[in-house]
Amino acid sequence: DGVRFDVITLFPAIFDGYLTQSLLEKAIKKGLVDIQRHDMRDWAGKAPHRKVDDRPFGGGPGMLLQVDVTVPCVEDVQKMGPSPGKVIMLTPQGKRFDQQMAEEFALCDRLVLMCGRYEGFDQRVTDILQPTEVSIGDFILNGGEVAAMTIVDSVVRLLPGVLGDENSNIDDSFSSGNRLLEFPQYTRPREYRGHQVPEVLLGGNHQAIAKWRSEQSQLRTQQRRSDLLEKQTDLPASQTDDLG
Ligand code: ADE
Repeated sequence: DGVRFDVITLFPAIFDGYLTQSLLEKAIKKGLVDIQRHDMRDWAGKAPHRKVDDRPFGGGPGMLLQVDVTVPCVEDVQKMGPSPGKVIMLTPQGKRFDQQMAEEFALCDRLVLMCGRYEGFDQRVTDILQPTEVSIGDFILNGGEVAAMTIVDSVVRLLPGVLGDENSNIDDSFSSGNRLLEFPQYTRPREYRGHQVPEVLLGGNHQAIAKWRSEQSQLRTQQRRSDLLEKQTDLPASQTDDLG
């Protein structure tokens, strides 16, 4: 019950190094993920030009990905798999990606990721395919490829069997059991340039350690990301206890 990803892009080589990165390579070898790349130019018009983009009607800068290239490309890719899958368009106009969305995507059997370049897609691509439009943040990337990699990366580590127990993700910041930032962590040496490891972590009192960590998480979240504390409605009581 892994996830199959289909990445539709004009620059499939951008993913080369990422796909051979150790965690992902292992997950692919174990059959937990399958990542197929598709070069949108294979759906372009006739040689020698093989155009995929054109200037916007009404004027303005940049080039748009053409509807008569993009739509057949996505439809053909959808037919290649065991199921049509969920179509996701990476765009700064999309819904903001977060850990909750990653958890939802991790339950899908197939995700088709459409990466834009230039000024984006002709609006009719969206009207016809009705993809889920997703943005990874309020900034502009040169294309959707890095955004697609971000989604693959965060979804893959949620799949059962991908991370070992030693790297368990259930306590991660923003996971459904925890919407607070993580507490600070320390390893050896106990002292470095006069900076000490907090005494409580050295004592072996697990209850005291848990209490200190929970306080640190709440303090950090309050100081750095108070916006996370505002939407607390569905949190377990243990995380809302002493928020003040
Ligand atoms: N393409 C360009 N910028 C993007 C962003 N912030 N998120 C998703 N796709 C994008």
